[in-house]
Amino acid sequence: MRDQGASCPVRILGIETSCDETAAAVVEDGVRILSNVVSTQHALHERFGGVVPEIASRAHIEAMLPVLDRALQDAGVGLRDVDGVAATTTPGLIGALLIGVTAAKALSWLLEAPLLAVNHLHAHIYAVWMAGATPKLPAISLVASGGHTSLFLTRGPLVHELLGGTVDDAAGEAFDKVANVLRLGYPGGPAIERAAARGNPAAVTFPRSLLGPEGAAFSFSGLKTAVLYHCLGRNVSKGDIERAHYDAQFVADVAASFQEAVVDVLVAKVCGTAERHNASSIMVGGGVAANARLRDRLRAEAAARGLAVHLAPASLCTDNAAMTAGIGYHLLKEGRQVPLTVEAEP
Ligand code: KG4
Ligand code: ZN
Repeated sequence: MRDQGASCPVRILGIETSCDETAAAVVEDGVRILSNVVSTQHALHERFGGVVPEIASRAHIEAMLPVLDRALQDAGVGLRDVDGVAATTTPGLIGALLIGVTAAKALSWLLEAPLLAVNHLHAHIYAVWMAGATPKLPAISLVASGGHTSLFLTRGPLVHELLGGTVDDAAGEAFDKVANVLRLGYPGGPAIERAAARGNPAAVTFPRSLLGPEGAAFSFSGLKTAVLYHCLGRNVSKGDIERAHYDAQFVADVAASFQEAVVDVLVAKVCGTAERHNASSIMVGGGVAANARLRDRLRAEAAARGLAVHLAPASLCTDNAAMTAGIGYHLLKEGRQVPLTVEAEP
């Protein structure tokens, strides 16, 4: 570890392997991104229509060292120039998490540098701060990703109280599964968004499940099934999905109508929760937050209700290690380093 002079920036090496991206980044003082390398496994999972955990773990093993090398090279720093090593320890696929956590432990031991254990959902929220935003706190934070749709009451970069989450599918998972039904490929979010651009969001009225507008819970499973039945009828089999052929305009209209239903629910829940908690602002991150329709609708609805909304930059919404390194800086600053015995938790 380096000797840190008073004016010396603090450099954190971040490692993220919670799902199907092998990522490493070097970030200074929690905000200056010196490098941000993401190696995605999408091509490996595409034919399964979703992430296969065993394939993900093996791919992380292969990608980890080249990705780390590249992150250091891009940043123009050596391993000895790093002041701390931050890795995602939870939540995620356990086999995938273990690869990144083990790499981080080895580096922390080798460099005698502090090891920092990052909660991936908190890191998704932290991406908002990386854009230089200064949200008024407490804020209501929404993380909408492939694995989670969660609302938090946020009091600082490291202080988040979970208010509620999805009782079944996550928002991103619904995008991926609907994209599979529509034969649009994986990951589904960007593919649905592209198809939706040519479609009519009012073409099909899909259900909006609010699970009681007062609560902070979400459910997207019914919506996903409604799309499936709309496309292929009620007695549909897996083979029917694989053999399905649709007219391009039908796909565009279903994609747009489905996207609108998800966006309606997310916007209503996050704004309603912010008002009920008298929150000063709204923060939004996670892969689904890259969706332009969601971003536009959130900005418009928050403005109409007099709420400030801060979105993670689109480039930092999907999984990356810059947000991991960024929040790692705050863990280090607060003296929250962890021992080498720290465990990954799904
Ligand atoms: O945050 P993320 O990269 O990984 C997890 O932590 O899960 O989120 C990935 C999810 C996938 O389900 C993907 O389909 C969705 O985010 N996603 C999107 C968009 N880009 C990624 N969903 C809607 N619109 C997008 N543009
Ligand atoms: Zn994520």
